[in-house]
Amino acid sequence: MELLVIFMIFVSFVFLCYLFRNKNGIPTNWPIVGMLFALLVNLHQVHVWLTEVLEKSDMNFLFKGPWLANMKMFITLDPANVHHIMSKNFTNYPKGTKFNEMFDVFGDGIVNVDSDMWMFQRKMAHTFISHPKFHPFLQDTVWEKVEKGLIPVLDHVSKQGLVIDLQDLFNRFTLDTICTLVTGCDLGSLSIDWPHVPFSNALDDAMEVILYRHIVPMRVWKFFRWLGVGSENKCKKAWEILDEFVYKCIAKKREEEKQKSMKPQVGVDLLTLYMDESQPINVTNVTSASDKFLRDTILSFFLAGRDTITTALSWFFYLLSKNPRVESKIREELSTMETVHDYQKLIYVHGALCEALRLYPPVAFEQKASIESDILPSGHQVDPNMQIIFNMYAMGRMKAIWGEDCYEFKPERWISEGGSIRHEPSYKFLAFNAGPRTCLGKNMAFFQMKAVVATIVRNYTFQAVEGHHVVPDVSLILRMKHGFMVKVYRSP
Ligand code: HEM
Repeated sequence: MELLVIFMIFVSFVFLCYLFRNKNGIPTNWPIVGMLFALLVNLHQVHVWLTEVLEKSDMNFLFKGPWLANMKMFITLDPANVHHIMSKNFTNYPKGTKFNEMFDVFGDGIVNVDSDMWMFQRKMAHTFISHPKFHPFLQDTVWEKVEKGLIPVLDHVSKQGLVIDLQDLFNRFTLDTICTLVTGCDLGSLSIDWPHVPFSNALDDAMEVILYRHIVPMRVWKFFRWLGVGSENKCKKAWEILDEFVYKCIAKKREEEKQKSMKPQVGVDLLTLYMDESQPINVTNVTSASDKFLRDTILSFFLAGRDTITTALSWFFYLLSKNPRVESKIREELSTMETVHDYQKLIYVHGALCEALRLYPPVAFEQKASIESDILPSGHQVDPNMQIIFNMYAMGRMKAIWGEDCYEFKPERWISEGGSIRHEPSYKFLAFNAGPRTCLGKNMAFFQMKAVVATIVRNYTFQAVEGHHVVPDVSLILRMKHGFMVKVYRSP
């Protein structure tokens, strides 16, 4: 009997989805249900669907959810609107309290707050990321991870003739790197034993729950959180694992600082700088150097710097596997370098990375909430407290922005006639965000990505496993749903 009821519900759902499907490419706003069924039926391929919808609606589209569900979102890719929201009228468009609540596991770190709290943290993060003591530490850490982590694992895999998931490999590389850069501790997840790392799984679980909170009405997930059941229970467990690890790192660092000799260090991690009371800007000024502040800061860096680079590198190598012409040009460029450490001179590689980020931006969605009403450059009216969404995946595929060949992978797009990198305004190329909240780790990210690309393309060849389907996942970060399975060969 129960099975029959479930079956009937399923059949009715499929029928409703069919009935309410969009016929001209733009979803119809039906009475009571709004555009919900169009969204549900396309959820599995949400980026592709939004690309079609936005192409057909001149890059501006108002999504209306069911009646009483408070799901009204203005989705825009129009560069003039992006520039207005991200820069010109920045103060009217914070991330909003909803964002902070959904990302509660990350506390009040830079990625998760607005206004004065954000401004202070931004100043601090900017100071330390560009600190003269952090720069050498960054260089040493990345090259060490490449030489002692990535190369031995790839050598092992190629000798054994194994098939690996490249996305998992890069995930381990970036996790260990960001952990060392931020806390000074190496998690050791990148090794031939492929160890199970609970901290990494906890980060994945937290992100999965945050995605689900974007889809389920707020009252519902908050009720489940209160009950501590379902995904919310998963989030609670992930939270405990994250806390345990991060607080341990902070305690360890405090202990090390006490025992430290007076010998000045050439390079230091970010946590050391955040704890250093002699820095002109330091946590003692504001938050009594609380462990909670440091915990939220560390987790924000994990959130910003792990999945982003993993995703960018995975799609980059996927695109390379489909474009042997580009791979040959990269090899050609690398052959002119005396050492792989000449990464700054890599113009073509830089263009190819930008092109991969245009087609597969790791942060595929950006959201804002208006404070006051406003009129956008496109003429659209914004009401107070309205959700504004940018879809960067769709933005990289708009003919009006990138031309008729926007679906092609063409690193040349980024290179000027004089042979230098062509600058594209950030409100057109939004992969690193735009305006005052532009990504603070952009240079760091390019450095890491170039170190990996140069090392791999020089020394290895990947062969994609035939029949393995590579598609974007429905997630906040544009990860590959089933990874990218490859066989690795050491170049002669
Ligand atoms: C390919 C790699 C990366 C991409 C595509 C990327 C992209 C972005 C985007 C889109 C944002 C805005 C997010 C939002 O407001 O919700 C952002 C913010 C940020 N990113 Fe990155 N990021 C990358 C790597 C990194 C790395 C390695 C770090 C260093 C830890 C970093 C640090 C930050 C920080 C601190 C912010 C917050 C800025 C603020 O809110 O003022 N990012 N990034």
